Amino acid sequence: MEFVVINGPNLGFLGQRQPEIYGTEGMDALPGLVERLLGEDAGRIRLTLFQSNSEGALIDRLEEAWKVKSDGIVLNAGAYTHTSLALADCLAWTGLPCVEVHLSNVHARQSAMRHTSLIGRHCIGAIAGFGIMSYALAVQALWQRLAVQP
Ligand code: DQA
Repeated sequence: MEFVVINGPNLGFLGQRQPEIYGTEGMDALPGLVERLLGEDAGRIRLTLFQSNSEGALIDRLEEAWKVKSDGIVLNAGAYTHTSLALADCLAWTGLPCVEVHLSNVHARQSAMRHTSLIGRHCIGAIAGFGIMSYALAVQALWQRLAVQP
């Protein structure tokens, strides 16, 4: 199975961006965490990573995933989570199985805007607050949903 892991704006320098909020690990930690969670099943999953600061490029990448029939999406849309009707529309029409992820626990953040997600209703579920492990848990959840209990 191929899962596309998509990171939105300001997520290109993970480990360096405000580590007190977003942690000290980068995306290079993800394969090891997925292996730890999924054991030998990890070998049956191909992770394709993509990051862009631009809303249109994120939509283009989702459309590409739909076109080539990628199996699932792990999406950290960054601040677009809270603002982008366009990303929400894309998830709605493509119908891609998607898990929303956040490094930080957005619900515990001070800014009330971060408590709202426009994309959440078009996702299978959401995982927030576990740093890079949020992505690994999302991969595990997609695997569980699509391969183990389809
Ligand atoms: C974030 C949370 C968003 O509110 C913020 O704009 C980000 C990162 C997270 O992973 O915790 O850029 O998506």
